[in-house]
Amino acid sequence: MATTKTPSNSYKLLTSTMWLWLILLAVAVYGFLISKTTKEMPKTWFEWKTEFRYQYLGIVGLWHDGHYAARDRVALYSQPDRVAVITGGNRGIGLRIVEKLLACDMTVIMGVRDPVTAEKAVGNIVDLSQTKGKLICEKLDVGDLKSVRAFAQRLKEKHSKIDILLNNAGIMFAPFKLSSDGFESHFAINFLGHFLLTHLLLPQLRAAGREGRNARIVNVSSCVNLIGRINYKDINGVKNYYPGTAYSQSKLAQILFTRHLQAMLDAEKAHVQANVVHPGIVDTDLFEHSATTSAPFLKKIFFKTPERGSRTVVFAAIDPSIEGEGGTYLSNCGKGPMHGDAKKPEKCEKLFQFASELLKIKQYGTGV
Ligand SMILES: NC(=O)c1ccc[n+]([C@@H]2O[C@H](COP(=O)([O-])OP(=O)(O)OC[C@H]3O[C@@H](n4cnc5c(N)ncnc54)[C@H](OP(=O)(O)O)[C@@H]3O)[C@@H](O)[C@H]2O)c1
Repeated sequence: MATTKTPSNSYKLLTSTMWLWLILLAVAVYGFLISKTTKEMPKTWFEWKTEFRYQYLGIVGLWHDGHYAARDRVALYSQPDRVAVITGGNRGIGLRIVEKLLACDMTVIMGVRDPVTAEKAVGNIVDLSQTKGKLICEKLDVGDLKSVRAFAQRLKEKHSKIDILLNNAGIMFAPFKLSSDGFESHFAINFLGHFLLTHLLLPQLRAAGREGRNARIVNVSSCVNLIGRINYKDINGVKNYYPGTAYSQSKLAQILFTRHLQAMLDAEKAHVQANVVHPGIVDTDLFEHSATTSAPFLKKIFFKTPERGSRTVVFAAIDPSIEGEGGTYLSNCGKGPMHGDAKKPEKCEKLFQFASELLKIKQYGTGV
């Protein structure tokens, strides 16, 4: 006769509290990693919740990068007549983007804080005497609105057409700091400076685009847009600053901006398309204020290399298969999941108007 075993009471207790044990273990490991870095331990329930959501998205992001690795490819081809502008590009993902654009024989203009070291950094990975592409390094602090205006003015004087604008520069989890214009640094650098730069360069982008060959704007966002929220009442987060919240807010802002910009470009039938990208979870200095700095080997094993991180960005900038498909959120060279607010035109427009008012822009895209 068959007998069925009934689980013992201690086994039942163990399994029923398994989730609690797992959470406690995760907190202990996380606390240990943080204790080895300059990052502060979360203090409030809200901060812990934000951290857990980040860890969850990080794991899902790593799974996505692994699952779609075969799709994560971009074919480079020669386009010597094209001019590309990139913010940052002296290190991390941006440096590998520049390498690929030069391999396409383009003229690449880098907007960087230190043009001399930026040129050296590119020279270390590309033979600048051999490449058919041309490299120009210009001074830009994207978190300083005056610097953004000066950079755009210099480009305007030298280049009547710009084919590609890559809004790549960014910071993550930085301690609270206001920019010289009075904006919280994530909001200022990751979003507002790029919002202004795009406005100022749109006339040259419009001039470069033509039927079947749109000029392209690529905003480099992040999968953490999914947990972002725009805090209109306290955009600088002065009352309750938490770096993770500031970062996800700025990355959501980039997506809402892209979506409304594309709606405007469609309405005016411009030959310009704007897309937004999550490059993957990539082993770069971006994580300097994160717990992962205490376990660099984990990043080496699980994260994408900067070269792989650059692929979806370059795909958005040049791949013919997405010609005419603006307003798309791309991840691993395909469509990815974006925040619910990004699917609501009124939410995208609200952020767009809010930013235009902050910058006193009367008519977006006029370049003045
Ligand atoms: N790494 C990832 O896993 C990941 C994931 C999702 C999204 N992203 C996004 O990808 C983009 C590139 O990040 P990354 O991983 O390559 O980071 P990174 O290695 O830290 O590089 C950041 C770049 O941004 C530049 N930058 C920062 N502040 C600037 C400012 N005020 N003005 C001009 N340039 C400035 C840096 O130049 P300096 O040398 O002058 O500081 C550098 O070139 C960012 O937008 C980031 O949010 C990255």
